[in-house]
Amino acid sequence: MDIKTNTNFANIKETYLFSEIGSRVRAYQEAHPEASIIRMGIGDVTLPLPQVVVEAMVKASQEMGCKETFRGYPPEYGYDFLKDAISIRYGSMGVSVEPGSIFVSDGAKSDLGNIVDILGNNPVIIPDPVYPVYVDSNTMNGNNITYINGTKENGFLPLPSELPSGDHKGSVIYLCSPNNPTGAVYSTEGLTAWVDFALKTGSLIIYDSAYDAFIAEEGIPHTIYEIPGAFDCAIEICSFSKFAGFTGVRCGWTVIPTTLKAGEVSLHALWKRRQATKFNGVSYPVQRAAQAALSDEGVKACAQNIAYYKQNAKLITELLDKKGIFYTGGNNSPYVWLECPEGCSSWEFFDKLLNEVQIVGTPGEGFGKGGDRYFRLTAFGSKENTIEAVKRLENII
Ligand code: MLT
Repeated sequence: MDIKTNTNFANIKETYLFSEIGSRVRAYQEAHPEASIIRMGIGDVTLPLPQVVVEAMVKASQEMGCKETFRGYPPEYGYDFLKDAISIRYGSMGVSVEPGSIFVSDGAKSDLGNIVDILGNNPVIIPDPVYPVYVDSNTMNGNNITYINGTKENGFLPLPSELPSGDHKGSVIYLCSPNNPTGAVYSTEGLTAWVDFALKTGSLIIYDSAYDAFIAEEGIPHTIYEIPGAFDCAIEICSFSKFAGFTGVRCGWTVIPTTLKAGEVSLHALWKRRQATKFNGVSYPVQRAAQAALSDEGVKACAQNIAYYKQNAKLITELLDKKGIFYTGGNNSPYVWLECPEGCSSWEFFDKLLNEVQIVGTPGEGFGKGGDRYFRLTAFGSKENTIEAVKRLENII
């Protein structure tokens, strides 16, 4: 064929991190069919959907089977009933986000990957380690990335003052809090530093708040819009996946304030245009299910599931405390990010755990160079498996 391809793909890893882990684990399982592997790698939920969510999905599906209540294409930006419910959720956090600023999507990952469509080739600032989607999608677009290091010293919460010198004008900055993979969470002070920096440099923050429902500590921001000035410099992308167990259902949302502008150009209008062309909306039953997750009963049921996962996280962090191993996360996050044993790289540690105790985690290096000596365990498994994993780990770490 004589067509040209996007040569930027040569600059990303050949396989996506979780696909690579999946294929290594499959190979191990084939070679050791008797092994009972405990999966603490990809952050996928394991508890079933709350009953109130299932009932809403069933009812909506039945409506689709009736002439009177059947619906065709959904509105490409989301049904009003769901945008209203999301807006009310922000209200409960003390923040006013009007439904007109909200775009319903099939999950945070799609929006985080697609947002580059409406942005030019700006300088990009990304913390390292980080969720690989920010780096890969910008690399696919040929953008120049400046990394800012998360380290043991800064608690994996880098601040603008740690950026390499330069004016950083007009940058696109990616932040995730509670962070994937480190579980570290920015305080109001930390986020204020980023918002002030963005306003001063005419930069845009893309804020990934997919894990906000795991925040336990008082006074930690749940949304970037709690920070004064954020409506003038930030897009927020969130998800029902971790909050309501929707990893297999697919629903999320993006907030782009109607007033957010790059020069004279409305980012809201650009995203609206992009979505209308490339996206046909989220199915009606899924949006009804998402609405139910945001009802009082739904929020209560989701909180119970989150409490269950947090209890798993506690089992893991108690072991690390006992062993004196440095870690972040667990408290406000389903992820625990621990330091690998002396002299062991993260992929070596991955192999060691898989081969010796049949536990799958995620090697920190998959999240960037800064993760080279770290390892991520998720608390999204069952309590029984987590107890067993802690027992197995106790003997080898
Ligand atoms: C993870 O394990 O980092 C997440 O599950 C990936 C995702 O949310 O796409």
